[in-house]
Amino acid sequence: MEDKRIQTSILIVDDNPENLRVMEFMLENPELNIIKASSGEEALKALMMPDDFALIFMDVRMPGLDGFEAAALIRQREKCAQIPIIFLTAYGESETGVFRGYSLGAVDFIVKPIAPEVLKSKVSVFVDLHKKNKRLTLQEELLRQSHERLEARVQERTAQLNRVNRDLTTEVAERTRAETALKESLKEKEILLKEIHHRVKNNLQIISSILSLQGNYVKDPDTLQLFQESQSRIKAIALVHEQLYQADLASMHLGDYLENLVANLFRTYAVQPGIKYEIDTEDVHIGLDTAIHCGLMITELVTNSLKYGFIDRLDGNIYVALRTSGDGYRLTVSDDGVGIAPDIDVRNTNSLGLQLVSTLADQMGAEMKLEGSPGTNFSFFFEEASVVRR
Ligand SMILES: Nc1ncnc2c1ncn2[C@@H]1O[C@H](COP(=O)(O)OP(=O)(O)OP(=O)(O)O)[C@@H](O)[C@H]1O
Ligand SMILES: [Mg+2]
Repeated sequence: MEDKRIQTSILIVDDNPENLRVMEFMLENPELNIIKASSGEEALKALMMPDDFALIFMDVRMPGLDGFEAAALIRQREKCAQIPIIFLTAYGESETGVFRGYSLGAVDFIVKPIAPEVLKSKVSVFVDLHKKNKRLTLQEELLRQSHERLEARVQERTAQLNRVNRDLTTEVAERTRAETALKESLKEKEILLKEIHHRVKNNLQIISSILSLQGNYVKDPDTLQLFQESQSRIKAIALVHEQLYQADLASMHLGDYLENLVANLFRTYAVQPGIKYEIDTEDVHIGLDTAIHCGLMITELVTNSLKYGFIDRLDGNIYVALRTSGDGYRLTVSDDGVGIAPDIDVRNTNSLGLQLVSTLADQMGAEMKLEGSPGTNFSFFFEEASVVRR
């Protein structure tokens, strides 16, 4: 850090040229620049130079300005106020002078005649101190500069952060707007889809009504029953769309659907008051396809129970359940009626009902099981990826 080419200066002030020469000789050192002044006035002039003064030797007794007066003036100058002054006194000069010197900022006194070792050691101490001071000042300046640089960087980063923050805020606002727009459009689509379900249901209802009206002209009871059954099959499908129209779209609420479906069949077949039903579902939502399949199967099986299970009986029970079972679902439709005649192969009938049930079960990948006596108990196990559990 230190530049050796810049010399440290020492000012010697003495009215005696001989003293000046001797001291200069004693202090001979290439690192030191010795400046001499033969009076207080000259000393003040010399201190105007831009030299780097480490120390001033000041003779006390001089004509014109004496050493103390010159020191007082030097101390008044801001640039020189900190330069250490060592007074040179003759042996036996009064001690009051010494006190005056210290009060004027003297750092030391040397009594003439001067011993070279004393002079050299004092100079070396003060020059060393001066250099250390300079180094400290330099370091302080460097520290200040780096602090300023740091401050500037912090300010820059803060500004940057503020910019980023502003951008982010704008982006968040934009996203929120986009999200709101998306939600609105989704809502519109939901409304549209509901409308479609509504119309499908209405159309199916119209078909069902046509069947009902045409049934009025049918005299043959068997044919009439055929009409009735077709009607309940169509109703089972219409009900799914009705549920979807009322509930959310991706899935529908199963319990309500099954309840409506079975209640509807009971109405159609004007069932004896002693015949009851029970619906048992978990709180699961089920996809449209699965719902229609299950709906049609339940329609067939419950219709059969009502038609054949309770002939000549006043009371009985029908049980419909759709519950989770292992990794899949189990649909159960059972009655405690007379049971299916043992000679009927439920997987291979000429009649439509059980054929339909087998086909629908196959389509769902469900395995069908029948357990009889007492009553009839159909159960189907299937897996359905689109079933969403609440
Ligand atoms: N729960 C039941 N209890 C007693 N017998 C039953 C039961 N379910 C079915 N059966 C018998 O099995 C037969 C076949 O039923 P299936 O549903 O296939 O035909 P269906 O009801 O006679 O005519 P459809 O094609 O209109 O359904 C029925 O005729 C009936 O004898
Ligand atoms: Mg049947």
